[in-house]
Amino acid sequence: MKNNNISSSLISHPSSLIIVTGGAGYIGSHTLIELDKAGFDFLVLDNLSNSSQEAIKRVEKIINKKIPFVKGDIRDKELLREIFKENRIDSVIHFAGLKAVGESVQKPLVYYENNVCGTNNLLEVMKEFGVKKFVFSSSATVYGEPDKMPVTEDMQTGVGITNSYGRSKYMIEEILKDLFISDNSWKIAILRYFNPVGAHESGMMGEDPEGIPNNLMPFITQVAVGKLPKLRVFGGDYPTHDGTGVRDYIHVMDLANAHVKALEYINNNDLNEPLIVNLGTGQGYSVLDMVKAFERASGVKIPYEIVDRRPGDIAKIYANPNKAKELLGWEAKRGIDEMCESAWNWQSRNPRGYKGE
Ligand code: NAD
Ligand code: UFG
Repeated sequence: MKNNNISSSLISHPSSLIIVTGGAGYIGSHTLIELDKAGFDFLVLDNLSNSSQEAIKRVEKIINKKIPFVKGDIRDKELLREIFKENRIDSVIHFAGLKAVGESVQKPLVYYENNVCGTNNLLEVMKEFGVKKFVFSSSATVYGEPDKMPVTEDMQTGVGITNSYGRSKYMIEEILKDLFISDNSWKIAILRYFNPVGAHESGMMGEDPEGIPNNLMPFITQVAVGKLPKLRVFGGDYPTHDGTGVRDYIHVMDLANAHVKALEYINNNDLNEPLIVNLGTGQGYSVLDMVKAFERASGVKIPYEIVDRRPGDIAKIYANPNKAKELLGWEAKRGIDEMCESAWNWQSRNPRGYKGE
Protein backbone atom coordinates (compact mmCIF):
# COMPACT_ATOMS: atom_id res chain seq x y z
CA MET A 1 0.00 0.00 0.00
CA LYS A 2 1.53 3.30 -1.08
CA ASN A 3 -0.35 5.43 1.42
CA ASN A 4 -0.09 4.43 4.99
CA ASN A 5 -2.31 7.22 6.23
CA ILE A 6 -5.45 5.15 5.97
CA SER A 7 -6.00 3.45 9.27
CA SER A 8 -7.02 -0.17 8.76
CA SER A 9 -10.32 0.42 10.56
CA LEU A 10 -11.38 2.57 7.62
CA ILE A 11 -11.03 -0.14 5.06
CA SER A 12 -14.13 -1.92 3.81
CA HIS A 13 -16.67 0.14 5.68
CA PRO A 14 -19.88 -1.86 5.32
CA SER A 15 -22.46 0.81 4.48
CA SER A 16 -22.30 3.26 1.62
CA LEU A 17 -20.40 6.43 2.34
CA ILE A 18 -20.12 10.03 1.29
CA ILE A 19 -16.55 11.26 0.86
CA VAL A 20 -16.28 14.71 2.42
CA THR A 21 -13.13 16.33 1.03
CA GLY A 22 -11.88 19.21 3.17
CA GLY A 23 -14.01 17.90 6.03
CA ALA A 24 -11.55 19.09 8.68
CA GLY A 25 -11.98 22.70 7.51
CA TYR A 26 -14.34 25.36 8.77
CA ILE A 27 -17.46 24.69 6.69
CA GLY A 28 -16.74 20.98 6.14
CA SER A 29 -16.45 20.18 9.85
CA HIS A 30 -19.75 21.91 10.64
CA THR A 31 -21.41 20.07 7.78
CA LEU A 32 -20.37 16.70 9.26
CA ILE A 33 -22.67 17.40 12.19
CA GLU A 34 -25.67 18.05 9.95
CA LEU A 35 -24.88 14.99 7.78
CA ASP A 36 -24.74 12.82 10.87
CA LYS A 37 -27.99 14.27 12.16
CA ALA A 38 -29.65 13.41 8.85
CA GLY A 39 -28.39 9.81 9.10
CA PHE A 40 -25.65 9.89 6.46
CA ASP A 41 -22.37 7.97 6.87
CA PHE A 42 -19.20 9.62 5.65
CA LEU A 43 -15.45 9.48 5.38
CA VAL A 44 -13.30 12.61 5.57
CA LEU A 45 -10.38 13.19 3.22
CA ASP A 46 -8.25 16.21 4.11
CA ASN A 47 -4.55 17.00 3.74
CA LEU A 48 -4.76 19.32 6.79
CA SER A 49 -3.01 22.09 4.84
CA ASN A 50 -5.38 24.64 6.42
CA SER A 51 -6.92 22.73 9.30
CA SER A 52 -6.31 20.54 12.28
CA GLN A 53 -7.41 17.01 13.06
CA GLU A 54 -8.56 18.41 16.38
CA ALA A 55 -11.62 19.73 14.50
CA ILE A 56 -12.54 16.14 13.63
CA LYS A 57 -12.02 15.08 17.23
CA ARG A 58 -14.40 17.81 18.39
CA VAL A 59 -17.03 16.68 15.88
CA GLU A 60 -16.59 13.11 17.15
CA LYS A 61 -17.34 14.36 20.67
CA ILE A 62 -20.42 16.23 19.53
CA ILE A 63 -21.88 13.39 17.46
CA ASN A 64 -20.53 10.72 19.81
CA LYS A 65 -19.18 8.62 16.95
CA LYS A 66 -15.79 7.80 15.40
CA ILE A 67 -15.24 9.48 12.05
CA PRO A 68 -13.27 7.62 9.37
CA PHE A 69 -10.48 10.03 8.47
CA VAL A 70 -7.87 9.87 5.72
CA LYS A 71 -5.04 12.37 5.77
CA GLY A 72 -4.36 12.83 2.11
CA ASP A 73 -4.62 14.99 -0.97
CA ILE A 74 -7.29 15.16 -3.66
CA ARG A 75 -4.45 15.39 -6.19
CA ASP A 76 -3.19 11.92 -5.23
CA LYS A 77 -4.97 9.62 -7.69
CA GLU A 78 -3.60 6.41 -6.24
CA LEU A 79 -4.87 7.33 -2.81
CA LEU A 80 -8.29 8.22 -4.23
CA ARG A 81 -8.45 4.92 -6.12
CA GLU A 82 -7.61 3.08 -2.94
CA ILE A 83 -10.41 4.83 -1.05
CA PHE A 84 -12.92 4.11 -3.82
CA LYS A 85 -11.78 0.47 -4.06
CA GLU A 86 -11.97 -0.20 -0.35
CA ASN A 87 -15.29 1.50 0.38
CA ARG A 88 -18.76 1.67 -1.09
CA ILE A 89 -18.75 5.34 -2.08
CA ASP A 90 -22.10 6.84 -2.97
CA SER A 91 -21.28 10.52 -3.48
CA VAL A 92 -18.72 13.25 -2.84
CA ILE A 93 -19.15 16.58 -1.06
CA HIS A 94 -16.17 18.60 -2.16
CA PHE A 95 -14.97 21.34 0.20
CA ALA A 96 -11.22 20.85 -0.26
CA GLY A 97 -9.51 23.87 -1.75
CA LEU A 98 -7.34 26.85 -1.00
CA LYS A 99 -9.33 30.00 -0.27
CA ALA A 100 -7.12 32.98 0.59
CA VAL A 101 -8.00 35.63 -1.97
CA GLY A 102 -4.83 37.76 -1.54
CA GLU A 103 -2.51 34.76 -1.55
CA SER A 104 -4.13 33.53 -4.76
CA VAL A 105 -3.05 36.72 -6.53
CA GLN A 106 0.57 36.05 -5.46
CA LYS A 107 0.45 32.30 -6.21
CA PRO A 108 -1.98 31.71 -9.07
CA LEU A 109 -0.38 28.46 -10.20
CA VAL A 110 -0.59 26.99 -6.71
CA TYR A 111 -4.30 27.87 -6.60
CA TYR A 112 -5.11 26.52 -10.08
CA GLU A 113 -3.13 23.34 -9.38
CA ASN A 114 -4.78 22.71 -6.04
CA ASN A 115 -8.33 23.82 -6.79
CA VAL A 116 -8.84 23.23 -10.51
CA CYS A 117 -6.44 20.32 -11.18
CA GLY A 118 -7.30 18.77 -7.80
CA THR A 119 -11.03 18.84 -8.59
CA ASN A 120 -10.45 17.49 -12.12
CA ASN A 121 -8.42 14.66 -10.63
CA LEU A 122 -11.15 13.82 -8.15
CA LEU A 123 -13.80 13.84 -10.89
CA GLU A 124 -11.66 11.54 -13.05
CA VAL A 125 -11.42 8.97 -10.29
CA MET A 126 -15.15 9.27 -9.53
CA LYS A 127 -15.83 8.59 -13.21
CA GLU A 128 -13.52 5.55 -13.18
CA PHE A 129 -15.55 4.12 -10.31
CA GLY A 130 -18.95 5.17 -11.67
CA VAL A 131 -19.66 7.49 -8.71
CA LYS A 132 -21.52 10.44 -10.19
CA LYS A 133 -23.05 12.45 -7.37
CA PHE A 134 -21.09 15.59 -6.54
CA VAL A 135 -21.76 18.61 -4.33
CA PHE A 136 -19.38 21.51 -4.89
CA SER A 137 -18.44 24.50 -2.70
CA SER A 138 -18.61 27.45 -5.05
CA SER A 139 -18.73 31.11 -4.13
CA ALA A 140 -20.60 34.34 -4.77
CA THR A 141 -17.28 35.53 -6.13
CA VAL A 142 -18.16 33.90 -9.51
CA TYR A 143 -20.58 36.81 -10.11
CA GLY A 144 -17.70 39.29 -10.24
CA GLU A 145 -19.11 42.77 -9.72
CA PRO A 146 -22.83 42.29 -10.38
CA ASP A 147 -24.78 45.24 -11.75
CA LYS A 148 -28.10 44.17 -10.18
CA MET A 149 -28.96 43.27 -6.62
CA PRO A 150 -29.96 40.85 -5.19
CA VAL A 151 -28.02 38.33 -7.22
CA THR A 152 -29.90 35.49 -8.92
CA GLU A 153 -28.33 32.29 -10.22
CA ASP A 154 -29.07 33.08 -13.88
CA MET A 155 -26.93 36.22 -13.80
CA GLN A 156 -23.66 36.39 -15.69
CA THR A 157 -20.64 34.71 -14.10
CA GLY A 158 -16.91 34.75 -14.84
CA VAL A 159 -16.64 38.45 -15.75
CA GLY A 160 -14.92 40.95 -13.48
CA ILE A 161 -13.49 38.41 -11.02
CA THR A 162 -10.44 40.08 -9.51
CA ASN A 163 -8.38 37.12 -8.29
CA SER A 164 -7.21 33.60 -9.14
CA TYR A 165 -9.13 32.06 -6.23
CA GLY A 166 -12.41 33.37 -7.62
CA ARG A 167 -11.49 32.33 -11.14
CA SER A 168 -10.64 28.83 -9.92
CA LYS A 169 -14.22 28.53 -8.61
CA TYR A 170 -15.61 29.80 -11.92
CA MET A 171 -13.43 27.37 -13.89
CA ILE A 172 -14.56 24.43 -11.77
CA GLU A 173 -18.20 25.41 -12.32
CA GLU A 174 -17.56 25.37 -16.08
CA ILE A 175 -15.83 21.97 -15.86
CA LEU A 176 -18.86 20.61 -14.00
CA LYS A 177 -21.28 21.98 -16.61
CA ASP A 178 -19.21 20.40 -19.42
CA LEU A 179 -19.03 17.12 -17.56
CA PHE A 180 -22.82 17.05 -17.33
CA ILE A 181 -23.13 17.79 -21.06
CA SER A 182 -20.84 14.84 -21.80
CA ASP A 183 -22.80 12.46 -19.55
CA ASN A 184 -26.17 13.50 -18.13
CA SER A 185 -26.22 10.70 -15.59
CA TRP A 186 -24.04 12.90 -13.36
CA LYS A 187 -25.93 14.59 -10.53
CA ILE A 188 -24.13 17.77 -9.63
CA ALA A 189 -24.97 20.51 -7.13
CA ILE A 190 -23.06 23.79 -7.31
CA LEU A 191 -23.56 25.76 -4.11
CA ARG A 192 -22.65 29.43 -4.28
CA TYR A 193 -21.90 30.48 -0.71
CA PHE A 194 -22.13 34.10 0.29
CA ASN A 195 -20.23 34.99 3.51
CA PRO A 196 -20.18 32.13 6.01
CA VAL A 197 -19.70 33.18 9.65
CA GLY A 198 -20.49 31.91 13.14
CA ALA A 199 -19.99 28.56 14.76
CA HIS A 200 -21.67 25.48 16.19
CA GLU A 201 -23.75 26.25 19.29
CA SER A 202 -21.50 24.10 21.53
CA GLY A 203 -18.63 26.59 21.31
CA MET A 204 -16.39 23.56 20.67
CA MET A 205 -15.91 24.26 16.98
CA GLY A 206 -15.53 27.32 14.81
CA GLU A 207 -13.39 29.17 12.32
CA ASP A 208 -9.68 28.89 13.09
CA PRO A 209 -7.65 30.63 10.39
CA GLU A 210 -3.85 30.34 10.27
CA GLY A 211 -2.05 33.62 11.02
CA ILE A 212 -3.78 36.98 10.69
CA PRO A 213 -7.34 36.46 9.42
CA ASN A 214 -8.26 37.78 5.97
CA ASN A 215 -11.97 37.72 6.66
CA LEU A 216 -14.00 40.15 8.68
CA MET A 217 -15.62 37.99 11.36
CA PRO A 218 -12.53 36.10 12.57
CA PHE A 219 -10.66 39.41 12.55
CA ILE A 220 -13.32 40.97 14.79
CA THR A 221 -13.33 38.01 17.20
CA GLN A 222 -9.54 38.10 17.47
CA VAL A 223 -9.66 41.82 18.26
CA ALA A 224 -12.26 41.00 20.91
CA VAL A 225 -10.00 38.45 22.65
CA GLY A 226 -7.07 40.88 22.48
CA LYS A 227 -4.99 38.96 19.92
CA LEU A 228 -5.18 41.89 17.51
CA PRO A 229 -5.24 45.57 18.51
CA LYS A 230 -7.94 46.94 16.22
CA LEU A 231 -10.02 46.29 13.15
CA ARG A 232 -9.09 48.04 9.94
CA VAL A 233 -12.27 48.80 8.02
CA PHE A 234 -11.40 48.67 4.34
CA GLY A 235 -13.06 51.72 2.81
CA GLY A 236 -15.56 54.20 4.22
CA ASP A 237 -16.60 55.76 0.92
CA TYR A 238 -18.55 52.99 -0.84
CA PRO A 239 -22.01 53.84 -2.17
CA THR A 240 -23.70 51.97 0.72
CA HIS A 241 -25.82 53.15 3.68
CA ASP A 242 -22.80 53.93 5.87
CA GLY A 243 -19.97 53.91 3.31
CA THR A 244 -18.59 50.48 4.28
CA GLY A 245 -18.83 47.28 2.22
CA VAL A 246 -22.07 45.28 2.31
CA ARG A 247 -22.18 41.46 2.29
CA ASP A 248 -24.68 38.66 2.85
CA TYR A 249 -23.45 36.92 6.01
CA ILE A 250 -24.79 33.43 6.56
CA HIS A 251 -24.56 31.28 9.69
CA VAL A 252 -22.30 28.30 9.07
CA MET A 253 -24.86 25.87 10.56
CA ASP A 254 -27.51 27.08 8.11
CA LEU A 255 -24.97 26.62 5.35
CA ALA A 256 -24.11 23.16 6.65
CA ASN A 257 -27.77 22.17 6.57
CA ALA A 258 -28.07 23.29 2.95
CA HIS A 259 -25.55 20.58 1.99
CA VAL A 260 -27.84 17.92 3.40
CA LYS A 261 -30.75 19.40 1.48
CA ALA A 262 -28.72 19.58 -1.74
CA LEU A 263 -27.58 16.00 -1.38
CA GLU A 264 -31.13 14.81 -0.73
CA TYR A 265 -32.28 16.78 -3.77
CA ILE A 266 -29.79 15.20 -6.14
CA ASN A 267 -30.47 11.77 -4.62
CA ASN A 268 -34.20 12.09 -5.23
CA ASN A 269 -34.51 14.03 -8.49
CA ASP A 270 -33.52 13.60 -12.11
CA LEU A 271 -31.55 16.64 -13.24
CA ASN A 272 -31.46 18.26 -16.69
CA GLU A 273 -28.45 20.33 -15.73
CA PRO A 274 -26.27 20.86 -12.69
CA LEU A 275 -28.27 22.32 -9.82
CA ILE A 276 -26.93 25.80 -9.05
CA VAL A 277 -28.11 27.63 -5.94
CA ASN A 278 -27.16 30.71 -3.97
CA LEU A 279 -26.74 30.15 -0.26
CA GLY A 280 -27.30 33.41 1.56
CA THR A 281 -29.94 35.06 3.71
CA GLY A 282 -30.93 37.72 1.20
CA GLN A 283 -29.99 40.41 3.69
CA GLY A 284 -27.00 42.71 3.27
CA TYR A 285 -25.06 44.08 6.26
CA SER A 286 -22.20 46.57 6.24
CA VAL A 287 -18.89 46.19 8.04
CA LEU A 288 -20.05 48.66 10.68
CA ASP A 289 -23.39 46.84 11.07
CA MET A 290 -21.37 43.70 11.84
CA VAL A 291 -19.15 45.53 14.32
CA LYS A 292 -22.21 46.87 16.16
CA ALA A 293 -23.94 43.48 16.15
CA PHE A 294 -20.82 41.84 17.50
CA GLU A 295 -20.46 44.44 20.26
CA ARG A 296 -24.10 43.78 21.21
CA ALA A 297 -23.63 40.04 21.28
CA SER A 298 -20.34 40.00 23.19
CA GLY A 299 -20.45 43.14 25.30
CA VAL A 300 -16.91 43.84 24.07
CA LYS A 301 -16.01 47.11 22.35
CA ILE A 302 -14.25 46.69 19.00
CA PRO A 303 -11.81 49.50 18.28
CA TYR A 304 -11.58 50.23 14.57
CA GLU A 305 -10.22 52.71 12.06
CA ILE A 306 -11.37 53.33 8.54
CA VAL A 307 -8.53 52.85 6.06
CA ASP A 308 -8.22 52.65 2.26
CA ARG A 309 -10.34 50.24 0.27
CA ARG A 310 -8.88 46.74 -0.14
CA PRO A 311 -7.97 46.14 -3.80
CA GLY A 312 -10.40 43.79 -5.54
CA ASP A 313 -13.28 44.35 -3.07
CA ILE A 314 -16.72 45.28 -4.34
CA ALA A 315 -19.12 47.69 -2.66
CA LYS A 316 -22.08 45.44 -2.16
CA ILE A 317 -23.32 41.92 -2.82
CA TYR A 318 -26.22 39.94 -1.42
CA ALA A 319 -28.18 36.94 -2.60
CA ASN A 320 -31.63 36.26 -3.82
CA PRO A 321 -32.00 32.93 -1.98
CA ASN A 322 -35.44 32.01 -3.41
CA LYS A 323 -34.23 29.23 -5.67
CA ALA A 324 -32.78 27.30 -2.73
CA LYS A 325 -36.09 27.74 -0.92
CA GLU A 326 -38.19 26.60 -3.86
CA LEU A 327 -36.09 23.62 -4.90
CA LEU A 328 -34.45 22.47 -1.69
CA GLY A 329 -36.96 23.70 0.85
CA TRP A 330 -34.02 25.40 2.53
CA GLU A 331 -33.74 28.85 3.99
CA ALA A 332 -31.43 30.43 6.51
CA LYS A 333 -32.96 30.42 9.99
CA ARG A 334 -30.34 32.23 12.05
CA GLY A 335 -29.90 35.99 12.06
CA ILE A 336 -27.00 38.33 12.59
CA ASP A 337 -27.22 38.18 16.42
CA GLU A 338 -26.92 34.41 16.49
CA MET A 339 -24.04 34.61 14.01
CA CYS A 340 -22.14 36.97 16.29
CA GLU A 341 -23.04 35.21 19.55
CA SER A 342 -21.88 31.83 18.29
CA ALA A 343 -18.66 33.25 16.81
CA TRP A 344 -17.93 34.87 20.17
CA ASN A 345 -18.85 31.74 22.13
CA TRP A 346 -16.29 29.78 20.09
CA GLN A 347 -13.52 32.39 20.14
CA SER A 348 -13.86 33.31 23.83
CA ARG A 349 -13.75 29.63 24.88
CA ASN A 350 -10.93 28.87 22.45
CA PRO A 351 -8.80 32.01 22.15
CA ARG A 352 -6.07 30.01 20.42
CA GLY A 353 -8.50 28.06 18.25
CA TYR A 354 -7.83 24.32 18.00
CA LYS A 355 -4.29 24.74 19.28
CA GLY A 356 -5.46 24.90 22.87
CA GLU A 357 -3.92 26.87 25.70
P1 NAD B 1 -11.02 25.72 5.00
O1 NAD B 1 -9.66 26.12 4.52
O2 NAD B 1 -11.31 25.82 6.44
O3 NAD B 1 -11.32 24.22 4.54
C1 NAD B 1 -10.79 23.67 3.36
C2 NAD B 1 -10.16 22.34 3.72
O4 NAD B 1 -9.62 21.73 2.55
C3 NAD B 1 -9.01 22.48 4.73
O5 NAD B 1 -9.25 21.60 5.80
C4 NAD B 1 -7.78 22.08 3.93
O6 NAD B 1 -6.82 21.44 4.74
C5 NAD B 1 -8.35 21.16 2.88
N1 NAD B 1 -7.60 21.06 1.63
C6 NAD B 1 -7.13 22.08 0.86
N2 NAD B 1 -6.52 21.59 -0.23
C7 NAD B 1 -6.62 20.24 -0.17
C8 NAD B 1 -6.18 19.20 -1.00
N3 NAD B 1 -5.50 19.43 -2.13
N4 NAD B 1 -6.45 17.91 -0.64
C9 NAD B 1 -7.12 17.65 0.52
N5 NAD B 1 -7.55 18.62 1.35
C10 NAD B 1 -7.30 19.90 1.01
O7 NAD B 1 -12.08 26.54 4.16
P2 NAD B 1 -13.65 26.66 4.34
O8 NAD B 1 -13.96 28.06 4.72
O9 NAD B 1 -14.17 25.55 5.16
O10 NAD B 1 -14.13 26.48 2.84
C11 NAD B 1 -14.55 25.25 2.31
C12 NAD B 1 -14.83 25.41 0.83
O11 NAD B 1 -15.80 26.43 0.64
C13 NAD B 1 -13.59 25.86 0.03
O12 NAD B 1 -13.62 25.22 -1.22
C14 NAD B 1 -13.81 27.35 -0.12
O13 NAD B 1 -13.18 27.85 -1.27
C15 NAD B 1 -15.32 27.42 -0.26
N6 NAD B 1 -15.87 28.74 0.11
C16 NAD B 1 -15.55 29.28 1.33
C17 NAD B 1 -16.03 30.55 1.66
C18 NAD B 1 -15.67 31.19 2.98
O14 NAD B 1 -15.82 32.39 3.11
N7 NAD B 1 -15.24 30.44 3.98
C19 NAD B 1 -16.84 31.26 0.75
C20 NAD B 1 -17.16 30.67 -0.47
C21 NAD B 1 -16.67 29.40 -0.78
N1 UFG C 1 -13.24 43.76 5.80
C1 UFG C 1 -12.70 44.79 6.55
N2 UFG C 1 -11.62 44.52 7.34
C2 UFG C 1 -11.07 43.29 7.43
C3 UFG C 1 -11.62 42.24 6.65
C4 UFG C 1 -12.71 42.52 5.84
O1 UFG C 1 -13.17 45.92 6.49
O2 UFG C 1 -10.07 43.11 8.15
C5 UFG C 1 -14.42 44.05 4.97
C6 UFG C 1 -14.21 43.81 3.48
O3 UFG C 1 -13.67 44.95 2.86
C7 UFG C 1 -15.62 43.46 3.02
C8 UFG C 1 -16.23 42.74 4.22
O4 UFG C 1 -15.45 43.13 5.35
O5 UFG C 1 -16.36 44.63 2.80
C9 UFG C 1 -16.18 41.23 4.10
O6 UFG C 1 -14.85 40.82 3.81
P1 UFG C 1 -14.39 39.29 3.90
O7 UFG C 1 -12.92 39.26 3.59
O8 UFG C 1 -14.83 38.70 5.19
O9 UFG C 1 -15.24 38.59 2.77
P2 UFG C 1 -15.29 38.88 1.21
O10 UFG C 1 -16.70 39.26 0.89
O11 UFG C 1 -14.22 39.76 0.75
O12 UFG C 1 -14.93 37.42 0.64
C10 UFG C 1 -15.73 36.30 0.94
C11 UFG C 1 -14.90 35.03 1.00
C12 UFG C 1 -14.37 34.68 -0.34
C13 UFG C 1 -15.46 34.68 -1.35
C14 UFG C 1 -16.23 35.97 -1.32
C15 UFG C 1 -17.42 35.89 -2.21
O13 UFG C 1 -13.80 35.19 1.88
O14 UFG C 1 -13.87 33.34 -0.26
O15 UFG C 1 -16.71 36.21 -0.01
O16 UFG C 1 -18.12 37.08 -2.22
F1 UFG C 1 -14.94 34.51 -2.58
